[in-house]
Amino acid sequence: MKNILVIGATGQIGSELTMELRKRYGNEHVVAGYIPGAEPKGILKDSGPSEIVDVTDRTSIEAAVKKYNIDAIYNLAALLSVVAESKPMMAWRIGIDGLWNVLEAAREHGCAVFTPSSIGSFGAETPHVKTPQDTVQRPRTMYGVTKVTTELLSDYYHTKYGVDTRSVRFPGIISNVTLPGGGTTDYAVEIYYAAVKGEKFVCPVKPGTLMDMMYMPDALNAAISLMEADPTRLKHRNAFNIASMSFGPETIYAAIKKYVPDFEMVYEIDPLKQSIADSWPDCLDDTCARQEWDWKPQYDLDSMTVDMLEKLRAKLNK
Ligand code: SER
Repeated sequence: MKNILVIGATGQIGSELTMELRKRYGNEHVVAGYIPGAEPKGILKDSGPSEIVDVTDRTSIEAAVKKYNIDAIYNLAALLSVVAESKPMMAWRIGIDGLWNVLEAAREHGCAVFTPSSIGSFGAETPHVKTPQDTVQRPRTMYGVTKVTTELLSDYYHTKYGVDTRSVRFPGIISNVTLPGGGTTDYAVEIYYAAVKGEKFVCPVKPGTLMDMMYMPDALNAAISLMEADPTRLKHRNAFNIASMSFGPETIYAAIKKYVPDFEMVYEIDPLKQSIADSWPDCLDDTCARQEWDWKPQYDLDSMTVDMLEKLRAKLNK
């Protein structure tokens, strides 16, 4: 990877991935692709090039690829699970029509492509504990439908056209820079903001609702190290299970309360979020990622909690 385009560079993952890639590959070699209304700001804007790149407009992708001689694309444009249920056609247009545009540009210009899949690519019939790498994927959400299709279309472009597509199934990502929006796992980010602001947290899913989660630095490492991995070792491509921690709301609450003793939480169940969460695995088996490209996370719930609280206190002046 010499010149990289990040599509969706101002989103939850994109805003931090772009900066991490700039650190590793040089500021001028990483282009922040954004859509009007979601312009990069601050350090993201000032530290390197940015371009309007709308995943639904193939010409905008091709123009950026040509202008910057791009050889790797991180395609992070997507609607998350809850919002995709209210806008299913838009979720498809961004997730799949958009992916098609990215893959076609990649095929013509010889780019590698990373387009994340998710724990949302699994469904109620999937084994929920130690979910295997290769198993039943019959999601009932539009988010899940687009993610399974993402995996299949990305593998298709690899086997049929030799495009270097690779991906992981991200769990809920916890971060302190840009908030996620409209996801089922968002509560695990919002709970830290509530704790630092001294607010009572209203939890939308029941105790005992286990889902895989991951701290942002591990998620960024996963994406970058998979794209750098020796291709001869990869038996899988789209997409690898990765895992670092799995918990329900009562467990993350207890982890925070250890450091914020007055913190309070109440439950007010959101039926849509609960039903989506219930259909997703409790914890994935990430053996293949460990074997094929040496995946290894650094953070557990406690070390993430310490870091999140420290960073958010500084950010929110608390
Ligand atoms: N964070 C995503 C969501 O909740 C799952 O990958 O939609």
